[in-house]
Amino acid sequence: METITVKASKTYNVEVGSGLLTTVGARLALLCPAPRRVMLVSDDTVFALWGEMAVTSLEAAGYTVTTFVFPHGEASKNTATLLNLWNAMATAKLSRSDVAVALGGGVVGDLTGFAAATYLRGIACYQIPTTLLAMVDSSVGGKTAVDLPAGKNLCGAFSQPIGVLCDADVLQTLPADIFAEGCAEVIKYGYIGDKQLLAMLETPFQNDPVPVIARCIADKRDVVEMDEHDNGPRQLLNLGHTGGHAAEKLSDFSISHGAAVAMGMVMAAKAAVARGICKPDVPLHMENMLRRYGLETECPFAASALAEAALSDKKRRGGEVTFVFPVQLGKSELYPVPAAELAALFSAGGAK
Ligand code: GLY
Repeated sequence: METITVKASKTYNVEVGSGLLTTVGARLALLCPAPRRVMLVSDDTVFALWGEMAVTSLEAAGYTVTTFVFPHGEASKNTATLLNLWNAMATAKLSRSDVAVALGGGVVGDLTGFAAATYLRGIACYQIPTTLLAMVDSSVGGKTAVDLPAGKNLCGAFSQPIGVLCDADVLQTLPADIFAEGCAEVIKYGYIGDKQLLAMLETPFQNDPVPVIARCIADKRDVVEMDEHDNGPRQLLNLGHTGGHAAEKLSDFSISHGAAVAMGMVMAAKAAVARGICKPDVPLHMENMLRRYGLETECPFAASALAEAALSDKKRRGGEVTFVFPVQLGKSELYPVPAAELAALFSAGGAK
């Protein structure tokens, strides 16, 4: 097992290994000893696979467990589900000393984290991510949110978990496309600032994912510790996200987040070449890497449509967008880009 300690406004451990889910009760007990109430939050798909194992372990450790299970998918990450969860917490009489446990992917983690950050002005939240994407990104760093009709993650809070448990065994039941979208976020860390990770990814890591997952979490830890509230270097984690979010939106979310980030990264790298801040070997390397992990690299949308969609993104600050450009293999930098230049940038990045 590998343990990564995150020292942000709260200090907590992210534990990564195999066979950990059966030990969740004992691990949680080290952080907040039973007896206490636990609200275990999951979606219907994940709960059917892993819910019983988690509940059994928590009850064996002395917790009183109530479950809140909602339909899987981004459509559930809204204020209606949040209200139902708050009410379920109140009905179960959760107090300030009780705990919310998120068992699932990014939707479950973000929603549970936000409910925990706000119920009784904040109770503890323990994250058990079950997708690769949630393990390497959304469960770590304290971003919690729900979507509004106007856009994704528009209402949320920075609130760090008390701990994160990544059991790589649960990845075995992930459909190939969901695993691939997590790979896009894994690969992203390499181009942001980890050339050694890019070397590790030359060999497929599916059969031995723990070292790669742990390395990505350590990379994320480093930027979160520098900039917990996302005003500076944490924005490097948005490599591929300006174009990616725009593509996701234009596809009506039929293109998954990770798949869209893959396209966005390639556009950013090609645009960086056109701006003279990066050599052509970088987008070439990136395209080969993404394809190796089953990801599309061509964005099907027009540059002007992407620019329009990107400008409604919450990452826009005034008349500028902070854009992440790769500058060499294993290194990216932040650049302010005037909103008026976005369409030309996407066009230079290979969009139609
Ligand atoms: N997912 C990007 C971040 O945590 O900042």
